[in-house]
Amino acid sequence: MDEIKIECILYAFDGLEHLPEDIKNLMHQAIEARKKAYAPYSNFQVGAALLLDNGKVITGSNQENASYPSGLCAERTAVYYAGSKYSDTKILKMAITAASKKGNTTEPTPPCGACRQAIVEYEVKQNQPIEIYFMGESGKVIKSNSLENLLPMVFNKSLL
Ligand code: THU
Repeated sequence: MDEIKIECILYAFDGLEHLPEDIKNLMHQAIEARKKAYAPYSNFQVGAALLLDNGKVITGSNQENASYPSGLCAERTAVYYAGSKYSDTKILKMAITAASKKGNTTEPTPPCGACRQAIVEYEVKQNQPIEIYFMGESGKVIKSNSLENLLPMVFNKSLL
């Protein structure tokens, strides 16, 4: 039996103010999007902002539903909008922020498993990695150079 070791390298910034200017701006747009979340059931608001290679920024927030599974995460709201409106445009960077009505969320909030699978589809489609930055409401910001880095042993079209 062989051991398989999978490495995931992430980068941590001490706070929003330590980010490069363009990412700080993208994260601020994610924060604005977060404030528009419709999250009356979880009281957990998430915002996402995508920078496209045409310079446009697409934002999304989580949209919940009384029938819980019918709701959608912020990341997928944004990514599916970008994929449908700008179908030939690459997604370059993504900023994510989450806040809870229960108190200040300082833990960086990564995309959930379903969102990782949804986002990686676009990395494969565009044949270019998407830089991901995620944070809570305040505190550290984590950077991943690609989505695939957050989803080892990815399932993608090469397996079909
Ligand atoms: N949520 C997101 O929007 N993105 C994630 O990656 C994790 C979870 C939302 C879904 C739901 O509205 C709330 O956060 C609590 O799970």
